[in-house]
Amino acid sequence: MKVLIVGNGAREHAIAEKLAQDCELYAVMSKKNPAIAQLSKEYWISDIENAEAVGKAIAGREFDLGFASPDATLAAGVSDILAKCGMLVASPSKEAARIEWDKSFMRSLLERHKIRGSPKHEVVTTVGDARRVVKDLGMVAIKPLGLTGGKGVKISGDHFSEIDEGMEYAKSLIDKDGSVLIEEKLVGEEFTFQCFSDGSRIATMPPVQDHKRAFENDLGPNTGGMGSYSSGARLPFTKEQDMDEAKKILQGVIHAMKKDGNPFRGVLYGQFMVTAHGVKIIEFNARFGDPEAMNVISLLEDSLTNVFLSIAEGQLSNPSFSDDCTVVKYMVPQGYPDKPLKDAAVSIDASGIESSGAKVYYASVYEEKGKILTTGSRAFGVLGRAGNLQDAERIAEKGCSCISGPVWHRPDIGTMGLISRKVERMRSIRGESS
Ligand SMILES: Nc1ncnc2c1ncn2[C@@H]1O[C@H](COP(=O)(O)OP(=O)(O)O)[C@@H](O)[C@H]1O
Ligand SMILES: [Mg+2]
Repeated sequence: MKVLIVGNGAREHAIAEKLAQDCELYAVMSKKNPAIAQLSKEYWISDIENAEAVGKAIAGREFDLGFASPDATLAAGVSDILAKCGMLVASPSKEAARIEWDKSFMRSLLERHKIRGSPKHEVVTTVGDARRVVKDLGMVAIKPLGLTGGKGVKISGDHFSEIDEGMEYAKSLIDKDGSVLIEEKLVGEEFTFQCFSDGSRIATMPPVQDHKRAFENDLGPNTGGMGSYSSGARLPFTKEQDMDEAKKILQGVIHAMKKDGNPFRGVLYGQFMVTAHGVKIIEFNARFGDPEAMNVISLLEDSLTNVFLSIAEGQLSNPSFSDDCTVVKYMVPQGYPDKPLKDAAVSIDASGIESSGAKVYYASVYEEKGKILTTGSRAFGVLGRAGNLQDAERIAEKGCSCISGPVWHRPDIGTMGLISRKVERMRSIRGESS
């Protein structure tokens, strides 16, 4: 099998590593990821947010199966181009990926098909309406409808306190995009629940909790994600009923999109929040999360090539996942996210990594004269896996200590200290005594 993957982050490194176990791998990347390059028989460098450019890069070549990964790549219609080139495709079309790149489309899909889980919300096009909705809802989340790399949402109490500040932001979005989504602010713990879908069926993966804030104890600015953990079929703060509700929402979306003649084939990522009033849906992504891909792919016990093939052919079965726990910690450049150090040399002690039992995934780094250099974005994902969270966390930490240079990570991710605070917080939100 010749499989083509489009993308070049740590998420794609994890996907590529798993695929390469039983296929001949090819890649289109925007920048050379040294690890993906090594796993690939051949690779091409191209603008991967431009479908035509990707089509040109692979012109005249034949592949059995393709998978496009980053959000902007899907929004640019790269899956559609891959299909046009004659291969089976396991990632969503541009129109199906709209569930991610148009939050207004997403909310109205849920509403039209009576899928529960949305917070109160409204899409508005004037500042007058924005003010009315904010007055009505009180604490709110103000959201651009499109993709912003996880940095576009502003929340009452977190990013602004006065209504006028919120209005200023809403106005700036209306001026730029013509509209803005305003949602009631939800309170609870967030988690990621991903599934494979062949357009009709879903197969869920273990849930994961990511950490968006830059600093320890979930403080500081938002980032692309500083690390994540998983603990089998449930997270320490979720109940079985929460997972059932979340699964129903994922399945509901797949049915709704099929009904509307816009089937979703690929990986559907639900970003959920457990609240005092059940599970709510924050948003969907049309792809694996990054870092969450590193958690779940390492647990997949079946061939990812076969899973992708079954998605593309509409024959999805239930792939199995190990019950092990995983912890991923991102190593990021000094100064990240506000003033990250670029072009700084980092080195990896490969034999140290080997004996630590951790795995290192290359994110945004490049190679020059045999050296690995940072770009300013997240540099490496370090994964620990074990039968329990404590050991998985320790392994990830050991892995991090084998990377030297001006990079840092959040030592608290996956620790019992941080996790038990989340469990306690969730108990108190649910009104339960500890
Ligand atoms: N209605 C909401 N209530 C509380 N927090 C929210 C709400 N919507 C979003 N957030 C917070 O903002 C983050 C980003 O929002 P999201 O809708 O996922 O946008 P994106 O990831 O595209 O920037 C979420 O992870 C969550 O922490
Ligand atoms: Mg999000």
